[in-house]
Amino acid sequence: MYRIAPSILSADFARLGEEVSAVIAAGADYIHFDVMDNHYVPNLTFGAMVCRALKPYAGDTPIDVHLMVEPVDDMIAAFADAGANIISFHPEASRHIDRSLSLIHEKNVQAALALNPATPLNILENVMDKLDMILLMSVNPGFGGQKFIPAMRAKIRRLRQICDMHEQQTGRHIPIEVDGGVNSNNISELVADGAEIFVAGSAIFGQKDYAQAISALKQGCLKG
Ligand code: DX5
Ligand code: ZN
Repeated sequence: MYRIAPSILSADFARLGEEVSAVIAAGADYIHFDVMDNHYVPNLTFGAMVCRALKPYAGDTPIDVHLMVEPVDDMIAAFADAGANIISFHPEASRHIDRSLSLIHEKNVQAALALNPATPLNILENVMDKLDMILLMSVNPGFGGQKFIPAMRAKIRRLRQICDMHEQQTGRHIPIEVDGGVNSNNISELVADGAEIFVAGSAIFGQKDYAQAISALKQGCLKG
């Protein structure tokens, strides 16, 4: 039920393919792929060509693409064609949120919105039917290795209530993914708050033994 999504933002960029294989062998459930454009966020990472090159290393493990780019629509098509399985984007970066979500589904890819710490939850209200996941940022996007913002715990709980209500009405479960500052010390609290998917960059790639790091996170989940 709980899934760990290592963010390759904290991997060794000179050996990305090997790093992807290594975290999958170590128990990763998803590969989290942070796309930054030095426009929507003050940092620059990798594009769809790198995603396409890494796809064979990911094998059957879903690639969870987190777009921190503006505008988003062209990148949605490019990443869908490059093998993305889930695509998240930030509502502030799209002129037409509903249209961007539909573009993702037209490519048979799962769609998610990524909400910054200060972005209110009511932005979700009219598009719940189109969301396969919701990504809650627990740091401001742009960099790995930042500290979890404590106020995000209450936001996870509020979002869980909204998603549970949606599930009662429609029978559709929408998982919450938490991204930023997740580690083996705080993950059980985030499980208790209602999150199910956890992005972890520095908490995994900052350790020598990836299997041990992922198993510590999974063990933390079971305590939540
Ligand atoms: C931040 C990225 C995160 C980041 C997480 O903009 O979206 O995915 O890599 O890194 P850690 O786990 O180190 O906070
Ligand atoms: Zn991310």
